Amino acid sequence: MSLTSIPGIEQQHDLLARAGRVLAGGGLGLFNLPDEVNLVIAAGKGSHVTDVAGRDYIDYHLGSGPDLLGHAHPAITEAVTAQLSKGTTYYFLNEHAIRLAERLVEAIPCGEQVHFTGSGTEATFFALRVARAHTGRSKILKFEGAWHGMHDYALWGTVPTEPSDYPRARPDSAGIPAIIGSEVLVAPFNDAERAVELIERHANELAAVIVEPLQRVLKPRPGFLEAVREVTRRHGVVLIFDEVVTGFRIAWGGAQECYGVVPDLATYGKAMAGGFPMACIVGRAAIMSALDGRRHPRHELAWASGTLNGNPVSAVAGLAALNVLAQPGTYEYLHRIGSRLRAGIVESGRRHGLPTLALGEDAVFGIRFIENNDVKSWMDLQAHDRELGLRWGIECLKRGLLVNPNEKFYISLAHTDADVDRTLEICDAAFAAVTS
Ligand SMILES: Cc1ncc(COP(=O)(O)O)c(C=O)c1O
Repeated sequence: MSLTSIPGIEQQHDLLARAGRVLAGGGLGLFNLPDEVNLVIAAGKGSHVTDVAGRDYIDYHLGSGPDLLGHAHPAITEAVTAQLSKGTTYYFLNEHAIRLAERLVEAIPCGEQVHFTGSGTEATFFALRVARAHTGRSKILKFEGAWHGMHDYALWGTVPTEPSDYPRARPDSAGIPAIIGSEVLVAPFNDAERAVELIERHANELAAVIVEPLQRVLKPRPGFLEAVREVTRRHGVVLIFDEVVTGFRIAWGGAQECYGVVPDLATYGKAMAGGFPMACIVGRAAIMSALDGRRHPRHELAWASGTLNGNPVSAVAGLAALNVLAQPGTYEYLHRIGSRLRAGIVESGRRHGLPTLALGEDAVFGIRFIENNDVKSWMDLQAHDRELGLRWGIECLKRGLLVNPNEKFYISLAHTDADVDRTLEICDAAFAAVTS
């Protein structure tokens, strides 16, 4: 069937043209697909979505991670529907937010107390503020290539194409005050010696070290997180794990459980609210007390208020999602489906003569074309063939996989073995197309 004969294609073109006029950048954020595969989603169910043109895709983007149960999971739909008729937001305490906080404290190794926020960006921004309030110091250290959201402290050394002049880095975005650069130190991921040296050198002025324990698709080397944990503890620097991606995904207890290192604070988002807008900071009560208006006068308090914090609709969605994730077998299933897919894609890519790697964890990984088998840092990753990754991603999209080229594959509980079989056929055809 030619593209123009697909019912709905005209409607999709029209919507994309209108988006181009009224949405800044034509999209909803930084991310835009190339025109030839751009689409408007009409609906999602389980592991699949359909676009307005009526095409079906197996979804490996999952809303950029939140839909860990798959789209429109009945447990979440029922819980949210029941809550909607009771009101959507109160600002005052609601029982669901309290129960969700209890569940988070139970599940997360560092969790003694919780503070809800609206997004992962707010969670990392406020976690850094809490660390400053707690320590009375102002600088923070992050790792090159780490993504902590969109605030002015996060956007340094996130996607550099050349090594930073460690610990100084360039801002990623226009509009960030240069002065903030003197407050943000950047170190290469997985280089324990360099991180320890920088942390020791700046310990007196360092409030926090923030790290994505699985940095995008890079696993921590044995000993790296442990070394960062040890030096931060020794110098009273708050260690923050950004678990917005890894939380409830790579294990029930997140990266802390998976890698066996417990930070002082952690930020959670995405999967924890079952596809609804909610994120949080969790951590040690002694540090979270910087947020406690019962203990501090207002001017000594770390302010982190938000109109929709602890919103009951998001809270019931989060509780429903966690109830499903807590069932026996969840993580075994995610690992089994993810590892089959990773291995199959790598085998297929290599059969087509491409240096294919599936980096990361089974539940979230990235396909990269790179000769170096020992990729450990953002700079190592720069050697990957971005152009090939884009072309292969476009060929996958054309054949019915919803993927974000050169980014991640997210696995959900809704993905089946039949999905994996079909996906591997599509990936293979996409490899054939890019090598022909
Ligand atoms: C590790 C990590 N931290 C923080 C964020 C920011 O979260 P949000 O997009 O909810 O602001 C993201 C977003 O992708 C992320 O991947």
